[in-house]
Amino acid sequence: MASVKSFTFFALNLLICFIAVQCGRDFYSILGVQRNANLNQIKKAYRRLAKELHPDKNKDDPDASSKFQDLGAAYEVLSDQDKREQYDRCGEECLKKEGMMNHGGDPFASFFGGDFFPFGNPHDNQHETPKGANIVIDLWVTLEELYSGNFVEITRNKPVMKPAKGTRKCNCRQEVVTKSLGPGRFQMMQQTVCDECPNVKLVNEERTLEIEIEPGMVEGQETKFVAEGEPHVDGEPGDLILKIKTQTHKRFERHGDDLYTNITISLQDALIGFTTEINHLDGHKVTVSRDKVTPPGTKIRKKGEGMPNFENNNLHGALIITFDVEFPKKVLTDKEQEEIKTLLGQDSTFKVYNGLQGF
Ligand SMILES: *[C@@H]1O[C@H](CO)[C@@H](O)[C@H](O)[C@H]1NC(C)=O
Repeated sequence: MASVKSFTFFALNLLICFIAVQCGRDFYSILGVQRNANLNQIKKAYRRLAKELHPDKNKDDPDASSKFQDLGAAYEVLSDQDKREQYDRCGEECLKKEGMMNHGGDPFASFFGGDFFPFGNPHDNQHETPKGANIVIDLWVTLEELYSGNFVEITRNKPVMKPAKGTRKCNCRQEVVTKSLGPGRFQMMQQTVCDECPNVKLVNEERTLEIEIEPGMVEGQETKFVAEGEPHVDGEPGDLILKIKTQTHKRFERHGDDLYTNITISLQDALIGFTTEINHLDGHKVTVSRDKVTPPGTKIRKKGEGMPNFENNNLHGALIITFDVEFPKKVLTDKEQEEIKTLLGQDSTFKVYNGLQGF
């Protein structure tokens, strides 16, 4: 049944292609996303596939490089709203006609840090190559972003090295030279010896980096952009390291994968019960309901309503809700006082105790 369906679809496609003479690549299936996928889903899919299909990781596959190019083209088009609209309307051929496909422009060049190049930078093992300083920058994110994930762009003025006129001293080292001071007398001394290298100058270039805030990332977690740090005249640039910092949230506090929140309820609701809703970090509603008396300090625990776990986004921590009770401010009349007495029928207790217990 499914094969009949897919054959019909295939045949139909062929027919449409034939009529309109516009059979380009299917960018949605290359990225493995639905046609209505949003930008984040497209970026996620691209990021995952780019790692998987990178030619350096698929040396045995003769098609590796063309697959990777397809992926790059699919990303280039679907991540750009104008190009995507045009593509949806009339396919790849028509984008090409309009000069909207920019071949060779590697959308990937300024993309993603982290373990993106797991095969590393070829100079990593050569210890003698000097390296510029690493730059560590705090990346302030909201709890909402850590809950749902997000992509953020960072524009940075990066000093890059460009050839310049003249030469400069380089590869300087200490050498010991021996100088004769007469028969049988020598003096040994250290001298700095340098080579002449082509001159360079530092020019600021604007770079846009895109970083993925992944669901469940934790405070202090680092994303590394290889070679985006300080340049080094005689060697490799350092790395740019972005460190997750969480902004304080008005309603939720995070501890590990658990979230904590407080709700103030009225004395009346504390006594007779209530139902209410909390707006969660992605906007979904969590129903909170009590049919018993809720003394101040009561905690309830909602399993699965905490933060997603970084390693496995399907696992969530808990949401712990602590209630405090707002007492009425009005002064009760003698009559009301009597009514409350009959209603509650509570005896007075004045139990004196040490509530700190050593703290
Ligand atoms: C709010 O909740 C926290 C965590 O459960 C609790 O320690 C704190 O006492 C609560 N605050 C109030 C005012 O009840």
